[in-house]
Amino acid sequence: MNANFTIRPARLKDAEKIYALIHRHKEALNQRPISGIVQNIDRFFVAENGARMVGCAAYEILPEFGAPIHATVEIQSVAVLSSMRRKGVGKALIKAVLGRIAQFRAAEALVLTFAPEFFGSLGFREIAKTEVMHKIYTGCINCTRHADPFTCPEKAMVLQLGQE
Ligand SMILES: CC(C)(COP(=O)(O)OP(=O)(O)OC[C@H]1O[C@@H](n2cnc3c(N)ncnc32)[C@H](O)[C@@H]1OP(=O)(O)O)[C@@H](O)C(=O)NCCC(=O)NCCS
Repeated sequence: MNANFTIRPARLKDAEKIYALIHRHKEALNQRPISGIVQNIDRFFVAENGARMVGCAAYEILPEFGAPIHATVEIQSVAVLSSMRRKGVGKALIKAVLGRIAQFRAAEALVLTFAPEFFGSLGFREIAKTEVMHKIYTGCINCTRHADPFTCPEKAMVLQLGQE
């Protein structure tokens, strides 16, 4: 493992590079407008190798109406440049996001992903999409890659945080 990278919270000046990184991974990531990245910049972490941005990850809070303590936090927009993969960058980004989530005591983290081995290595376990349809609805309804979320190969995975 090459430890030649740093993780930090994103800054407004990172928004265009985050946009470009997400855009490079169209096959795996929901695309986001630059305005949405700027509005949610406080929910992004970035990885840098020197001055170069080599990875990013973010989260969004999905409310459970009537039971705020059961809100799920969805991990989104996780990408590492192909030349920097398998060096621990992705894992460090997710740990940074989970550290932030821990501050507001979320009960579980959810991810919809084409990289189940990666999230499995971090303790996430696969669940049926039917268990979280009400929560993933807002994402799946805008999907331009797959017509049906139940035949889409993306996996739903959760990590219990046990911090209620
Ligand atoms: C998924 C992704 C973020 C992983 O980033 P990364 O920096 O390479 O991941 P790490 O080096 O931290 O890997 C940690 C562990 O995850 C597992 N893992 C990571 N990538 C894997 C892969 N392609 N196949 C199998 N296991 C994998 C391994 O157990 C790895 O540990 P190891 O290298 O010691 O064996 C990166 O491959 C990526 O950007 N993919 C394209 C976008 C994407 O699919 N994003 C996820 C959508 S939510």
